Amino acid sequence: MKNNKEPNILFSSQQIHDRLVVMVNEIEKDYRDKDLVVVAVLKGSVLFLADLVRGFSRPLAFDFIGVSSYGNSRTSLGVINLSKQISIDIRDKDVLVVDDILDSGRTLGWVKEHLCKFGPRSVKICVLLKKEVERVIEVEADYVGFTLADVFVYGYGLDYRDRYRHLPYIAKLGDDEVPPGETVDE
Ligand code: IMP
Ligand code: MG
Repeated sequence: MKNNKEPNILFSSQQIHDRLVVMVNEIEKDYRDKDLVVVAVLKGSVLFLADLVRGFSRPLAFDFIGVSSYGNSRTSLGVINLSKQISIDIRDKDVLVVDDILDSGRTLGWVKEHLCKFGPRSVKICVLLKKEVERVIEVEADYVGFTLADVFVYGYGLDYRDRYRHLPYIAKLGDDEVPPGETVDE
């Protein structure tokens, strides 16, 4: 394992914020006259959600759903576990699910199907990142911040072994690398 001195930044804080301005504009236009409820997926979406909703000039509600998929530090095993249920009524509401990344599609596929049981008027998906990989579960993101190849990334909500979510940028990690500051196992 290699311990880099500097993070390999893919998307800087400025790039992310510039992109969010464009995304909010598009979403606001599409949801004009609609009763918008944003449902953010814990924990990866938290920074994205906070920055995204601050750009809206129209009223909206937001809530959280907690899901976890068990796996190792870099890949998920695909078993979805509901750790926090939504707490507001989404019946007849226009729901926008917000998450950090669309990878295999298992998480968002499960969340979308789950939310549909509550009778929303519509459910769309907004992700900051979309990996260009074959999906295990067929699910489309309606709004995408950036697309990226099949690489592991961390920061701005995304974790490496549950840490580094707080970083204001998104960095890439090679297969044989750990983030700067991480202890390297011998
Ligand atoms: P999916 O269910 O395979 O689509 O993966 C979605 C979840 O896996 C995300 O919400 C992340 O928590 C996690 N994930 C996928 N790719 C990455 C990555 O590159 N870095 C960190 N977490 C990731
Ligand atoms: Mg994760």
